[in-house]
Amino acid sequence: MNKEDLSVNIGSLKLRNPIMLASGTVGYGSEISEFIDLKKIGAIVTKSISLKPRKGNKPQRVLETSAGMLNAIGLTNVGVEKFIAEKIPFLKKQDVPIICNIAASTLEEYVECVKILNYEDGIHAFEINVSCPNVKEGGLQFGNNEKMVGKITKEIRSCTNKPIIIKLSPNVANISEFAETAKKEGADAVSAINTLIGTSFNIKNRKPKLKNIIGGLSGPAIKPIALAKIFEIHQKVKIPIIGIGGIMNWQDAVEFMIAGASAIQLGTVNFIDPTAAIKILNGLTEYCKGNKIQKISSLTGSYQLD
Ligand SMILES: Cc1cc2nc3c(=O)[nH]c(=O)nc-3n(C[C@H](O)[C@H](O)[C@H](O)COP(=O)(O)O)c2cc1C
Repeated sequence: MNKEDLSVNIGSLKLRNPIMLASGTVGYGSEISEFIDLKKIGAIVTKSISLKPRKGNKPQRVLETSAGMLNAIGLTNVGVEKFIAEKIPFLKKQDVPIICNIAASTLEEYVECVKILNYEDGIHAFEINVSCPNVKEGGLQFGNNEKMVGKITKEIRSCTNKPIIIKLSPNVANISEFAETAKKEGADAVSAINTLIGTSFNIKNRKPKLKNIIGGLSGPAIKPIALAKIFEIHQKVKIPIIGIGGIMNWQDAVEFMIAGASAIQLGTVNFIDPTAAIKILNGLTEYCKGNKIQKISSLTGSYQLD
């Protein structure tokens, strides 16, 4: 039998396999490259970058929960200039497609970032973060506003030919409407989901455990929600979906593809096991072999409803 074909297309973006590393969970790739050979994975999504460097929120910014983690990092990043000078050169050497995630507090800031980064031939696509739950400006003010998501997509589309992925918030009633708007305004794909709003209190002093009070919940706790959101988009909108949310093993990755994802991103699992991406890749390969699946892309949206 021929070797299994693990490659997937997300619009014009071609990936050697569907496994991507999620924004904010592997920084700019250098630490995780000590554990895995980055050229084996489909793509790396870099930490949200903003026009100017951001310090983010004060500690405590991360908490473990019963089935995941709460984070209120607040988009700490080095800013566009340093990103280009110091982070991209390292990633370019790794021979892994780079998807640059962008966050901003205004529409103008998104556009400015994309215009600057568009010249970087090392960047294969943009993922636009309109859904960070723990920043004061931008974040969910954008992600919960369909008109704003449309405007941001349209403006960004007008200044780049690189693929655009809009990263959607799960903190909305009808995520498919946001996906439809993103598609209408020229997005090549959507990624779903970003974290869910969450918080936690200390029962001794009754104070919030996170300095920012509100954080984003990720990890296994959000997997069923992510699957439902992906399924909703897949049923209603013809646009490639990158599935994210609590994927811990290859079985989860298969489930996301069946629910409608063309590719998947690994987030919280990287903190637990930095080699998870390779284990999941091996698991997917074996699954395809064992089930005589020649093209992994045939799994996407292959759910059987009756
Ligand atoms: C510590 C941490 C930092 C994150 N930072 C970002 C970020 O900068 N930009 C972004 O778009 N998503 C960010 N995310 C969200 C993840 O990319 C992902 O959407 C989310 O964690 C759900 O996937 P998971 O359950 O596999 O972690 C962050 C998540 C965590 C846990």
